This record gives sequence, structure tokens and C-alpha cells, in this order.
Amino acid sequence: MKVFIDGEPVEGADASVPVNDHGLLYGDGVFEGIRAFDRRAFRLDLHLERLGHGARALHLEVPGGAAAMREVVQKVLDAHGDGDAYLRLIVTRGAGPLGIDPTQCERPRVICIADRIALFSDAQRRAGLSMITSSVRRPPADVLDPRVKTLNYLNNVMARGEARRQGADEALMLNLQGQVAEATVANVFVVREGVLMTPPTSDGALDGITRRAVLELAAARGIETRVQTLGRMDIFGADECFMTGSGAGVVRIASLDGEALSRGEPGPITEQLASAHQQLLRA
Ligand SMILES: Cc1ncc(COP(=O)(O)O)c(C=O)c1O
Repeated sequence: MKVFIDGEPVEGADASVPVNDHGLLYGDGVFEGIRAFDRRAFRLDLHLERLGHGARALHLEVPGGAAAMREVVQKVLDAHGDGDAYLRLIVTRGAGPLGIDPTQCERPRVICIADRIALFSDAQRRAGLSMITSSVRRPPADVLDPRVKTLNYLNNVMARGEARRQGADEALMLNLQGQVAEATVANVFVVREGVLMTPPTSDGALDGITRRAVLELAAARGIETRVQTLGRMDIFGADECFMTGSGAGVVRIASLDGEALSRGEPGPITEQLASAHQQLLRA
């Protein structure tokens, strides 16, 4: 693991933040999870744009702006070396007094970590993931906008924990209207009669970088795509179901709440898009 804090390298094992950092105390900050291959970050511009929008929504300054973020990402990638890497770029509110007042913090802290990630084993990917519908809902935009990748992931953590305690791999999160929002760290897609569908961000989904890439890859292959509201019934009735994320990649969902999906078979469109996505990451 390679770590830079405020632009300086720190030995992975010794890398730490002070206990009065508001990122730790209140989840006050934003982050990105970024895929990289051979020292090149995948669609870094889009990640930095999302980070910048999120930071602005929190009235949080990104020190040095996108240019400084680009620089630290390159430094950590060079330190990591060739091959597969997963980056975690974090901007916290920084150190401050114990009260929540964000205006009392000295300056934002930038942390950039490069490591490897294996969210799911090869066996899980081949078999497809089991998913439960979580009782934890995605909050609406006027509570905690799901389009902002804040350090406050507690509802996702609760949902994943619920799934794991029930022996499932992943959790499907619905919005307050009971419509499909997303998985805990990934966007959800279904295929029905050859049409690829995923919910709009206004239904509680993050504007995923992998989601966008998969929609583009599908369109380039002549697959019809639709961004539209989905219910659980659309998942049960789908020919194929998969999820996408920078950490997860493109992974098939094999069951929901104990019911087999897509007749228990890996779907051809899922397989086609998963391999196209792998190629794109390495291109
Ligand atoms: C809640 C949530 N949804 C979706 C995604 C997928 O987004 P991306 O493809 O940009 O990694 C993530 C990624 O971390 C996430 O945390």
C-alpha cells in the first residue's frame, strides 16, 4: 500500500490522521475510489469533476483544485508501480475543535492511497452474487444527496452488514418510494428483452463512472439503453442483472432474496459488457 498525506509520502503502516480530523469525527469530507492500470487512472477527469462537485456541495475547498489532485494521484501511482491499482482519494475537513462547526477547521486534508482491491473472489464472480433487499433505504437528496460521495457511508455500511449477517454477498438499496436505488457500493443494471436499464441518479443512485462507461459500451455495441425507474419486480423479471463499480467492476447478480435470477445462467450481455469493460480499463 502506498499513501500520500497532504502531498507527502507516508509509510503505509504509519499513515494516520489526527483524532480531531472532522473526517473521522463527523464523516465530514468527500472521496473517490478510482481504478488504475499501469500507472494510468481510469477516467480521472470524471472522478475529479465528481469530487469537485461534491466538495462544493459541502462548502469544502479542495486544496490546489483538480490540478493538485491530479498531481498527487500520479505520485501515488508512480510509487505503486505497474499493474492493477485501486486508488482512494479523500479530502477531509481537516483538524478542528470537537464541535461540529466546519468553519473552525484549519485546512482540508488530502489523503491518497494506492492498493490492490478484491471485493469479490473469482469464484463469486463466476457464480454471481447473492443479494438481499436491505431494510436500510437510500436517503433522499434533501437529507444526504446520494450523488455526493461523502465520507458518511453509514447507511451503506448498515445495508452491507445486514446482507452479510443473512449470508448474502450484497444488498439492494431502495429509495423512500421503494424504487431501486443501487447496491451498497455499485450501480444496478437489468437486461430485459435485449434492453439495458439502470435507474436515474434522481432515484438515489450515484452517477457512477463505471455506470457511464457501461452505458457507452452498450450503446457502441448496438444494445438499446434506458435510464429509467426500476422496482424489485423489474429485477425478478429481468433476463440478466448485474452491478457496476470502480472497485467491483461488472459483476453478475445471481439471486435476490433467495430467488434465482436470469434462470440461474450468466447472461450474454453481462458477459459481453464485463469483458468490454476489462479491455477498456487496460486500453
Ligand atoms: C454508493 C455507490 N454507488 C455506486 C458506485 C459506483 O460508482 P463508480 O463506478 O464511480 O465507482 C459507488 C462506488 O464507490 C458507490 O459508493
